[in-house]
Amino acid sequence: MTGARHADVVGTGSALPERVVTNDYFESLVETSDEWIRDRTGIRARHFATDGENTSDLATRAATNALQTAGVAAGQVDVIVCATLTPDNPIPAAAVRVQQKLGLSCPAFDVNAACAGFSYGMSVGTAFIESGHAETVVVIGAEILSRVLDMTDRSTCILFGDGAGAVVLRPAEAPGVIGTVLGADGNAADILLIPAGGSAMPASAETVAARDHAIRMPNGKEVFKRAVREMASACRELLEKSGYTSDDVDLLIPHQANARIMNAVADRLGIGGDRAVVDVAEVGNTSAASIPIALDRAWRAGRVKQGGLVLLTSFGAGLAWGATLLRWTTPEPAR
Ligand SMILES: CC(C)(COP(=O)(O)OP(=O)(O)OC[C@H]1O[C@@H](n2cnc3c(N)ncnc32)[C@H](O)[C@@H]1OP(=O)(O)O)[C@@H](O)C(=O)NCCC(=O)NCCS
Repeated sequence: MTGARHADVVGTGSALPERVVTNDYFESLVETSDEWIRDRTGIRARHFATDGENTSDLATRAATNALQTAGVAAGQVDVIVCATLTPDNPIPAAAVRVQQKLGLSCPAFDVNAACAGFSYGMSVGTAFIESGHAETVVVIGAEILSRVLDMTDRSTCILFGDGAGAVVLRPAEAPGVIGTVLGADGNAADILLIPAGGSAMPASAETVAARDHAIRMPNGKEVFKRAVREMASACRELLEKSGYTSDDVDLLIPHQANARIMNAVADRLGIGGDRAVVDVAEVGNTSAASIPIALDRAWRAGRVKQGGLVLLTSFGAGLAWGATLLRWTTPEPAR
């Protein structure tokens, strides 16, 4: 390869657990309704893993699926990066379990930037390719959030789902990955968190009884506002530094947290209608997995056109956020 070395997305894949949980399931657990959940979030259903099904199982399925799409043999993978806040165990990394399940011996590690994890994982994977340290990188976003939910807290339990998505990155002479913007603000760390299970609050009988190992969001409205503001501004910054405008974007894929958040981001950017992917209805918020799942589903539905400009943007606990701009080179799927 002559000239600068770039990274390109050459395949996508995703995996959802078989079990579908519709909104009425929560009506017996908390005071809520299907109508409230649909109106306020756009979510109708989500997938929950079954007992014995772990994050690395979903991640391995998504990675295998992405490698098949890319036509790349698993043996060619040089690095596995898995973005997750729900690895099978605190250690080892979920990525290492994926490596073992794929029968590989390459480096493998996790990235945790909560719901912004896929943006961070993509920047790491891209750096491996651009620097010449790897020829083939699999970047995965995978979560089993149903195991970190407080099923008595109506403001959080209805939002999240389980799943995994993955992309395969390979070197290219023209940029597939055009650029990335990342951001974080630890001043707001306590508005979205899992309080226990780390060094600040180790697991104890008390933490379990108090449900301190579950996701807490004491100020959902503030999370909502910050999500809209940071995703829109990360996208603007990235477009400007890459020499594009919103008009050039063929497809916007925001973190699939809530349809109202995504519509507000699309409105602020002036990227509405068919140009914005809102695919939360059947999947829910799958945190680090949401963007690669939405990307894969959009590609399989024929919405990601070869040669198109694709803008991905994420936001989550940290607070942390990011945006990635892609020139899409993979042909549409055969029909
Ligand atoms: C959680 C969220 C959907 C709540 O919607 P909202 O319109 O902001 O609602 P509010 O928080 O103002 O709550 C309004 C009322 O609905 C109630 N409510 C919250 N969850 C409810 C539920 N599942 N069912 C019924 N009522 C609910 C609240 O208790 C509140 O009642 P009150 O007025 O008696 O106090 C919204 O804040 C949100 O999406 N925040 C961001 C969440 C997110 O995406 N987090 C992850 C980011 S990665």
